[in-house]
Amino acid sequence: MTDLYAVIGNPISHSKSPLIHKGFAEATGQDLDYIAIEGPFGRFAETVDAWRDKGLRGLNITVPFKMDAYRYATRRDAAAREAGAVNCLTFDGAEAEGANYDGIGLARDIEANLATPVAGRTVLVLGTGGATRGALGPLLARGPARLTVAFRTPGKEAELRALFPEARALDFLAYADLGGEAYDLVLNATSATLSGEAPPVPLKAFARGALAYDLAYGKGLTPFLRLARAAGVTRCVDGVGMLVEQAAEAFARWRGVRPETKTMIEKITVPLV
Ligand code: ATR
Repeated sequence: MTDLYAVIGNPISHSKSPLIHKGFAEATGQDLDYIAIEGPFGRFAETVDAWRDKGLRGLNITVPFKMDAYRYATRRDAAAREAGAVNCLTFDGAEAEGANYDGIGLARDIEANLATPVAGRTVLVLGTGGATRGALGPLLARGPARLTVAFRTPGKEAELRALFPEARALDFLAYADLGGEAYDLVLNATSATLSGEAPPVPLKAFARGALAYDLAYGKGLTPFLRLARAAGVTRCVDGVGMLVEQAAEAFARWRGVRPETKTMIEKITVPLV
Protein backbone atom coordinates (compact mmCIF):
# COMPACT_ATOMS: atom_id res chain seq x y z
CA MET A 1 0.00 0.00 0.00
CA THR A 2 1.24 3.51 -0.84
CA ASP A 3 2.26 5.43 2.30
CA LEU A 4 0.07 8.42 3.04
CA TYR A 5 1.19 11.82 4.37
CA ALA A 6 -0.64 15.13 4.64
CA VAL A 7 -0.62 18.77 5.62
CA ILE A 8 -3.38 20.10 7.86
CA GLY A 9 -4.40 23.74 8.23
CA ASN A 10 -7.34 26.10 7.85
CA PRO A 11 -7.52 27.50 5.26
CA ILE A 12 -5.44 24.97 3.30
CA SER A 13 -6.30 25.31 -0.39
CA HIS A 14 -3.33 27.65 -0.98
CA SER A 15 -0.81 25.17 0.46
CA LYS A 16 2.17 24.26 -1.70
CA SER A 17 3.12 21.31 0.54
CA PRO A 18 1.44 18.58 -1.58
CA LEU A 19 3.25 19.84 -4.69
CA ILE A 20 6.58 19.99 -2.83
CA HIS A 21 6.34 16.55 -1.22
CA LYS A 22 5.10 14.85 -4.39
CA GLY A 23 7.98 16.47 -6.23
CA PHE A 24 10.45 15.21 -3.63
CA ALA A 25 8.94 11.72 -3.85
CA GLU A 26 9.31 11.66 -7.61
CA ALA A 27 12.89 12.96 -7.47
CA THR A 28 13.95 10.39 -4.86
CA GLY A 29 11.90 7.46 -6.19
CA GLN A 30 9.76 7.14 -3.06
CA ASP A 31 6.29 5.63 -3.27
CA LEU A 32 3.99 7.93 -1.31
CA ASP A 33 0.91 10.07 -1.54
CA TYR A 34 0.51 13.48 0.09
CA ILE A 35 -2.79 15.28 0.55
CA ALA A 36 -4.10 18.54 2.04
CA ILE A 37 -6.62 18.36 4.90
CA GLU A 38 -8.78 21.31 5.88
CA GLY A 39 -8.97 20.87 9.66
CA PRO A 40 -12.17 21.97 11.39
CA PHE A 41 -11.47 24.60 14.08
CA GLY A 42 -11.39 23.16 17.57
CA ARG A 43 -11.33 19.53 16.38
CA PHE A 44 -7.68 18.92 15.62
CA ALA A 45 -7.19 15.76 17.70
CA GLU A 46 -10.34 13.98 16.46
CA THR A 47 -9.49 14.83 12.87
CA VAL A 48 -5.94 13.54 13.15
CA ASP A 49 -7.07 10.40 15.00
CA ALA A 50 -9.48 9.60 12.17
CA TRP A 51 -6.77 9.95 9.51
CA ARG A 52 -4.37 7.81 11.55
CA ASP A 53 -7.03 5.11 11.59
CA LYS A 54 -6.95 5.32 7.79
CA GLY A 55 -3.18 4.77 7.79
CA LEU A 56 -1.70 8.29 7.82
CA ARG A 57 2.06 7.99 8.48
CA GLY A 58 3.05 11.61 9.00
CA LEU A 59 1.55 15.09 9.06
CA ASN A 60 2.71 18.64 8.48
CA ILE A 61 0.90 21.28 10.46
CA THR A 62 0.27 24.88 9.49
CA VAL A 63 -1.81 27.80 10.75
CA PRO A 64 -3.73 27.65 13.08
CA PHE A 65 -2.92 24.18 14.45
CA LYS A 66 0.76 24.22 15.41
CA MET A 67 -0.01 24.54 19.11
CA ASP A 68 -2.71 21.88 18.93
CA ALA A 69 -0.12 19.62 17.31
CA TYR A 70 2.28 20.41 20.16
CA ARG A 71 -0.31 19.23 22.67
CA TYR A 72 -1.20 16.22 20.53
CA ALA A 73 2.40 14.94 20.33
CA THR A 74 3.45 12.22 22.77
CA ARG A 75 7.13 13.20 22.31
CA ARG A 76 8.68 16.51 21.19
CA ASP A 77 12.12 17.38 19.88
CA ALA A 78 14.20 20.25 21.29
CA ALA A 79 13.20 22.69 18.52
CA ALA A 80 9.51 21.96 19.13
CA ARG A 81 9.91 22.56 22.86
CA GLU A 82 11.77 25.81 22.21
CA ALA A 83 9.17 26.97 19.69
CA GLY A 84 6.22 25.78 21.80
CA ALA A 85 4.81 24.54 18.49
CA VAL A 86 4.95 21.46 16.26
CA ASN A 87 4.96 21.58 12.45
CA CYS A 88 5.64 17.90 11.79
CA LEU A 89 4.18 14.77 13.36
CA THR A 90 5.47 11.27 12.71
CA PHE A 91 3.23 8.39 13.73
CA ASP A 92 4.63 5.17 15.08
CA GLY A 93 2.03 2.90 16.66
CA ALA A 94 0.54 4.82 19.59
CA GLU A 95 3.35 7.37 19.53
CA ALA A 96 3.12 10.75 17.79
CA GLU A 97 6.56 12.31 17.56
CA GLY A 98 6.44 16.11 17.27
CA ALA A 99 9.15 18.18 15.60
CA ASN A 100 9.51 21.75 14.46
CA TYR A 101 11.50 22.36 11.28
CA ASP A 102 10.49 25.98 10.60
CA GLY A 103 13.50 27.56 12.31
CA ILE A 104 16.01 25.12 10.88
CA GLY A 105 14.44 25.58 7.44
CA LEU A 106 14.84 29.34 7.73
CA ALA A 107 18.46 29.10 8.87
CA ARG A 108 19.31 26.64 6.08
CA ASP A 109 17.69 28.84 3.47
CA ILE A 110 19.63 31.90 4.60
CA GLU A 111 22.96 30.12 4.83
CA ALA A 112 22.88 27.41 2.17
CA ASN A 113 20.58 28.83 -0.51
CA LEU A 114 21.16 32.54 -0.08
CA ALA A 115 24.85 32.09 0.81
CA THR A 116 24.54 34.52 3.69
CA PRO A 117 26.41 33.49 6.83
CA VAL A 118 24.76 34.31 10.16
CA ALA A 119 27.90 33.80 12.26
CA GLY A 120 29.45 37.10 13.26
CA ARG A 121 26.70 39.14 11.54
CA THR A 122 24.03 41.39 12.98
CA VAL A 123 20.46 40.16 12.70
CA LEU A 124 17.20 42.03 13.30
CA VAL A 125 14.04 39.95 13.74
CA LEU A 126 10.78 41.88 13.63
CA GLY A 127 7.92 40.63 15.82
CA THR A 128 7.50 38.59 18.97
CA GLY A 129 4.98 35.95 17.85
CA GLY A 130 5.23 32.25 17.07
CA ALA A 131 7.32 32.71 13.93
CA THR A 132 9.98 34.56 15.89
CA ARG A 133 9.91 32.06 18.70
CA GLY A 134 10.59 29.23 16.26
CA ALA A 135 13.39 31.10 14.51
CA LEU A 136 15.44 32.28 17.49
CA GLY A 137 17.03 28.98 18.56
CA PRO A 138 18.36 27.97 15.11
CA LEU A 139 19.56 31.53 14.38
CA LEU A 140 21.31 31.91 17.76
CA ALA A 141 22.94 28.49 17.29
CA ARG A 142 24.80 29.94 14.30
CA GLY A 143 26.53 32.57 16.42
CA PRO A 144 25.40 36.01 15.24
CA ALA A 145 27.35 38.96 16.68
CA ARG A 146 24.01 40.42 17.69
CA LEU A 147 20.41 39.31 17.32
CA THR A 148 17.90 42.04 18.10
CA VAL A 149 14.18 41.32 18.33
CA ALA A 150 11.96 44.35 17.69
CA PHE A 151 8.67 44.42 19.56
CA ARG A 152 5.54 46.50 19.20
CA THR A 153 3.77 45.55 22.43
CA PRO A 154 5.98 45.89 25.53
CA GLY A 155 5.91 42.79 27.71
CA LYS A 156 5.66 40.26 24.86
CA GLU A 157 9.44 40.07 24.66
CA ALA A 158 9.80 38.86 28.27
CA GLU A 159 8.76 35.28 27.47
CA LEU A 160 11.25 35.11 24.59
CA ARG A 161 14.03 36.48 26.75
CA ALA A 162 13.30 33.83 29.40
CA LEU A 163 13.69 31.05 26.80
CA PHE A 164 17.30 32.00 26.04
CA PRO A 165 18.84 33.16 29.32
CA GLU A 166 22.37 32.29 28.18
CA ALA A 167 22.26 34.06 24.80
CA ARG A 168 24.46 37.13 25.20
CA ALA A 169 24.01 38.18 21.56
CA LEU A 170 20.23 38.48 22.05
CA ASP A 171 18.56 41.77 22.87
CA PHE A 172 15.12 43.33 22.55
CA LEU A 173 14.20 46.82 21.38
CA ALA A 174 11.00 48.74 20.80
CA TYR A 175 10.67 49.96 17.19
CA ALA A 176 11.15 53.54 18.37
CA ASP A 177 14.57 52.59 19.76
CA LEU A 178 15.86 51.05 16.51
CA GLY A 179 18.11 53.09 14.25
CA GLY A 180 21.30 53.13 16.30
CA GLU A 181 22.56 50.05 14.48
CA ALA A 182 22.43 48.89 10.85
CA TYR A 183 21.74 45.16 10.49
CA ASP A 184 23.14 42.72 7.92
CA LEU A 185 19.96 40.65 7.97
CA VAL A 186 16.46 41.97 8.60
CA LEU A 187 13.73 39.35 8.93
CA ASN A 188 10.02 40.13 8.96
CA ALA A 189 8.37 37.64 11.32
CA THR A 190 5.34 39.84 12.03
CA SER A 191 1.84 39.42 10.65
CA ALA A 192 1.77 43.09 9.56
CA THR A 193 1.37 42.08 5.89
CA LEU A 194 -2.08 40.68 6.69
CA SER A 195 -3.25 44.20 7.48
CA GLY A 196 -1.40 45.63 4.49
CA GLU A 197 1.28 47.26 6.62
CA ALA A 198 5.01 47.18 7.09
CA PRO A 199 6.41 47.00 10.60
CA PRO A 200 7.68 50.49 11.55
CA VAL A 201 11.36 49.74 11.08
CA PRO A 202 13.54 52.79 10.33
CA LEU A 203 15.34 52.81 6.96
CA LYS A 204 18.72 53.15 8.64
CA ALA A 205 18.27 49.78 10.34
CA PHE A 206 19.21 48.16 6.98
CA ALA A 207 22.98 47.91 6.53
CA ARG A 208 24.59 48.42 3.13
CA GLY A 209 24.36 45.06 1.33
CA ALA A 210 21.73 43.80 3.77
CA LEU A 211 19.45 40.85 3.10
CA ALA A 212 15.74 41.60 3.70
CA TYR A 213 13.77 38.40 4.31
CA ASP A 214 10.01 38.12 4.67
CA LEU A 215 9.06 34.83 6.31
CA ALA A 216 5.71 34.79 4.53
CA TYR A 217 5.61 33.44 0.97
CA GLY A 218 3.51 33.90 -2.12
CA LYS A 219 2.50 37.44 -1.22
CA GLY A 220 4.71 39.18 -3.78
CA LEU A 221 6.52 42.33 -2.82
CA THR A 222 5.10 42.84 0.68
CA PRO A 223 4.95 46.26 2.38
CA PHE A 224 8.01 45.18 4.38
CA LEU A 225 10.00 44.29 1.24
CA ARG A 226 8.92 47.57 -0.37
CA LEU A 227 10.23 49.40 2.66
CA ALA A 228 13.52 47.51 2.36
CA ARG A 229 13.76 48.51 -1.31
CA ALA A 230 13.12 52.12 -0.31
CA ALA A 231 16.07 51.76 2.08
CA GLY A 232 18.25 50.75 -0.88
CA VAL A 233 18.24 47.00 -0.20
CA THR A 234 18.71 44.96 -3.37
CA ARG A 235 18.58 41.49 -1.80
CA CYS A 236 14.88 41.05 -1.00
CA VAL A 237 13.40 37.56 -0.64
CA ASP A 238 10.28 35.88 0.69
CA GLY A 239 9.92 32.65 2.69
CA VAL A 240 9.60 30.23 -0.21
CA GLY A 241 13.05 28.76 0.51
CA MET A 242 12.17 28.34 4.17
CA LEU A 243 9.00 26.49 3.16
CA VAL A 244 10.88 24.10 0.89
CA GLU A 245 13.68 23.53 3.41
CA GLN A 246 11.33 22.69 6.28
CA ALA A 247 9.54 20.30 3.92
CA ALA A 248 12.87 18.65 3.06
CA GLU A 249 13.56 18.12 6.78
CA ALA A 250 10.16 16.45 7.25
CA PHE A 251 10.68 14.33 4.14
CA ALA A 252 14.09 13.22 5.40
CA ARG A 253 12.63 12.33 8.80
CA TRP A 254 9.87 10.27 7.19
CA ARG A 255 11.70 8.61 4.31
CA GLY A 256 15.37 8.57 5.36
CA VAL A 257 16.55 10.48 2.27
CA ARG A 258 17.12 14.20 2.04
CA PRO A 259 15.82 15.58 -1.27
CA GLU A 260 17.65 18.21 -3.25
CA THR A 261 15.85 21.54 -2.72
CA LYS A 262 17.22 23.97 -5.31
CA THR A 263 15.09 22.68 -8.19
CA MET A 264 11.91 22.85 -6.14
CA ILE A 265 12.65 26.37 -4.88
CA GLU A 266 13.19 27.52 -8.46
CA LYS A 267 9.99 25.79 -9.56
CA ILE A 268 7.71 27.51 -7.06
CA THR A 269 9.41 30.88 -6.70
CA VAL A 270 7.22 33.72 -7.92
CA PRO A 271 9.05 36.90 -8.94
CA LEU A 272 8.64 39.63 -6.33
CA VAL A 273 6.81 42.41 -8.13
P1 ATR B 1 2.81 34.33 14.25
O1 ATR B 1 2.43 33.16 15.05
O2 ATR B 1 2.60 34.18 12.77
O3 ATR B 1 4.19 34.83 14.55
P2 ATR B 1 1.49 36.16 16.01
O4 ATR B 1 1.79 35.28 17.15
O5 ATR B 1 0.13 36.75 15.89
O6 ATR B 1 1.75 35.46 14.62
O7 ATR B 1 2.57 37.33 16.03
C1 ATR B 1 2.55 38.33 15.14
C2 ATR B 1 3.60 39.40 15.52
O8 ATR B 1 3.49 40.43 14.54
C3 ATR B 1 3.37 40.03 16.87
O9 ATR B 1 4.61 40.31 17.48
C4 ATR B 1 2.66 41.32 16.49
O10 ATR B 1 2.84 42.38 17.39
P3 ATR B 1 1.95 42.49 18.73
O11 ATR B 1 2.56 41.53 19.68
O12 ATR B 1 2.09 43.89 19.13
O13 ATR B 1 0.56 42.12 18.32
C5 ATR B 1 3.38 41.65 15.22
N1 ATR B 1 2.66 42.62 14.37
C6 ATR B 1 1.49 42.44 13.73
N2 ATR B 1 1.17 43.54 13.02
C7 ATR B 1 2.18 44.43 13.19
C8 ATR B 1 2.45 45.73 12.70
N3 ATR B 1 1.61 46.36 11.87
N4 ATR B 1 3.60 46.33 13.10
C9 ATR B 1 4.45 45.70 13.93
N5 ATR B 1 4.27 44.47 14.42
C10 ATR B 1 3.14 43.84 14.06
